[in-house]
Amino acid sequence: MDRIRIVGGNKLNGTIPISGAKNAALPLMIAALLTEETLILDNVPRLADVAQLQRILGNHGVDIMAAGKRTGDHEYQGQTLHISAANIIDTTAPYELVSKMRASFWVIAPLVARMKEARVSLPGGCAIGTRPVDLLIMALEKLGAEIVIDGGYVIARAPDGLTGAAIDFPKVTVSGTHVALMAATLAKGTTVITGAACEPEIADVADCLNKMGARISGAGTTRIVIEGVVKLHGARHTVLPDRIEAGTYAMAVAMTGGEVQLAGARPELLQAALDVLVEAGVTVTPNNEGIRIARNGAGISPVTVTTAPFPGFPTDLQAQLMALMTRAKGSSHITETIFENRFMHVQELARFGARIALDGETATIEGIPALRGAPVMATDLRASVSLVIAALAAEGETMVNRIYHLDRGFERLEEKLSACGAQIERISG
Ligand code: UD1
Repeated sequence: MDRIRIVGGNKLNGTIPISGAKNAALPLMIAALLTEETLILDNVPRLADVAQLQRILGNHGVDIMAAGKRTGDHEYQGQTLHISAANIIDTTAPYELVSKMRASFWVIAPLVARMKEARVSLPGGCAIGTRPVDLLIMALEKLGAEIVIDGGYVIARAPDGLTGAAIDFPKVTVSGTHVALMAATLAKGTTVITGAACEPEIADVADCLNKMGARISGAGTTRIVIEGVVKLHGARHTVLPDRIEAGTYAMAVAMTGGEVQLAGARPELLQAALDVLVEAGVTVTPNNEGIRIARNGAGISPVTVTTAPFPGFPTDLQAQLMALMTRAKGSSHITETIFENRFMHVQELARFGARIALDGETATIEGIPALRGAPVMATDLRASVSLVIAALAAEGETMVNRIYHLDRGFERLEEKLSACGAQIERISG
């Protein structure tokens, strides 16, 4: 199993290109199941989760072609995928495939909407909390699907097609909103989703669906209206930049000091995180090409932060912020409200000497002047990268084990960081 070796202490200086968003690319690829024509997606990140979803879609009979290099392509440009679900030959998504990645469960929505049936294994994915699918099932039932759970599979049937309905989410759910949105595009009549998630990735998927002929308004707000259409067609769409990747590298620069341009990052997608960094003493300068992050001389000030749905501070940056605060001048408080059990990085950060106390949903971090490198273990996706951030500033060597979690969500992490001066290398095997 691959490991990453980091010798801490170097400042980061240079440019880091920001990839396409994993959390948009996955639902966009799944949306291709809604049409028999080809959906072309540009700027798809090269990630293990994308490759896994390619396997899952392939099992349904979907053809996916990755375009080759073109004149003028940049070294770091994302890939272009041509996805054609002309013939769906299998409406089952088996346990062996779905258990590796939770988002693959979402295929249930386009399959039942277009094929009138789907049989999808209950999901796996990151071990953060229980992560149920009750609200996804509720949304499909509202649209008229009959749902049975049998042998670990959710079986959805709508022999006469889905019908538009009012869907009110009692809790903000990104997965529930994606599923409701995709299914409603092909339902008869109008669907109104209230309590919808406002994450930019939802709006990106809705944009793409509208290019495919869907009639969606209000995506990106809590109320989305979808007028169902009989068919969707092919389209071409560019995946929006990854705000979590951008926020992660911003925290890395804040941790080590130095000055880095996050090329292609869009400040409006991560304003809450940028505000926290400014409070922590980091200089944040949005410009035409992205965001410039700098910390020169000044120490890190402690912050108090609570995670919240967009536009709040994202849970997917909570672990990274905690790593940063281990070296703040004073006590920080971080409260996690989205997922239970999303503090697995605390024990690993303690291996660097970090002083963190947990009380229910709140972590109190006593900043210390210096961390010491240590062997650590990557747990979930975002927790893993928090260990990398700690290691970049720690004295001596850190070995991050079990890094397959990192490969699920961060494209060429070690290349991007070493290009800015970090001493980081992948050790294969
Ligand atoms: C997505 C993101 C993930 C991010 C999360 C919150 C993708 C691929 N993943 O995950 O990176 O951390 O949003 O921003 O986009 N819930 C229920 N019942 C349900 C569904 C969810 O109770 O049926 C709960 C969850 O347990 C959790 C909360 O709702 O406590 C939010 O989950 P949700 O927004 O659905 O997260 P994901 O879509 O899984």
